[in-house]
Amino acid sequence: MSPFLLTRTLPEDATDAALRADVQRGLTGTPKTLPPKWFYDARGSELFEQITELPEYYPTRAEREILIARAAEIAEATGARTLIELGSGSSEKTRYLLDALTDLDTYVPVDVSESALTQAGQALVAERPGLRVHALIADFTASVTLPDTPGPRLIAFLGGTIGNLLPAERAAFYGAIRSLLSPGDALLLGTDLVKDEQVLVRAYDDAAQVTAAFNKNVLTVVNRELDADFDPDAFDHVALWDSRNEWIEMRLRSRTAQTVKIPALDLAVDFAEGEDLRTEISAKFRQDGVRAELAAAGLELTHWWTDREGRFALSSSVA
Ligand code: AVJ
Repeated sequence: MSPFLLTRTLPEDATDAALRADVQRGLTGTPKTLPPKWFYDARGSELFEQITELPEYYPTRAEREILIARAAEIAEATGARTLIELGSGSSEKTRYLLDALTDLDTYVPVDVSESALTQAGQALVAERPGLRVHALIADFTASVTLPDTPGPRLIAFLGGTIGNLLPAERAAFYGAIRSLLSPGDALLLGTDLVKDEQVLVRAYDDAAQVTAAFNKNVLTVVNRELDADFDPDAFDHVALWDSRNEWIEMRLRSRTAQTVKIPALDLAVDFAEGEDLRTEISAKFRQDGVRAELAAAGLELTHWWTDREGRFALSSSVA
């Protein structure tokens, strides 16, 4: 058997249908919203890679610091033979885990991007003789059917992407994870932590304006896929801290009163001057909150690791 397998659980046209539904719902509602998953076309993924190297954007470096310091401990605590990574992207940080997991049999990267999965998967099997890679093209927010691989399983959801989900969506996500875990399996979760407001806002509104370009890129995605006529320059990038919900919001603020046409949906969308389109929430967490949300889904927090500055946490939990 070839050590690299790719399984599509998402129909070829599912992405297009989901984008249409999200744009239709998001731009006809009040306030206007678009889900953050549409940032990540080729250009958006490239901009996100640039964000991770910005001086202001600390989460990637903080999480890498934890992985480097704790990979051996994580490996020992779980003894995983299958590593499943949700939203694996380039699988860059996963390498620390792959190196530490001495009993690993199969790596299961899960992502919506077939190109990222193929690239990362092929490279890994070439580098690591003996490792099986079974990539899944799937949306981790939908239900994922895992391949039949040896346990214990470690499901990793890194990067703080859990923060893009609203509280009710997080509850559904944790519930779905819980149902995938057998005794001995574990969830490894990356969460960005509540900290000084200025530090948080700057991480999402950097001086070089890379995040502004990343935010506006979602408009070019809608233009290309749905033939819309958004003018990205007609919107300002906004990042603000919502202290009640403890999340960062990214918005695109219409500079003028304008109407945007979306022919593929037979839709015309009016924006008032100064009206906001919310494009992302990025929730920040505290240990007690993470523990409580996991517990509500039947998951028990067993480990909590942070970087030296206490900016970001990796946690482990079990069913
Ligand atoms: C990839 C979802 C973790 O929320 O910090 C970076 C995305 N948005 N800058 C985050 C993002 C703006 C990022 N995640």
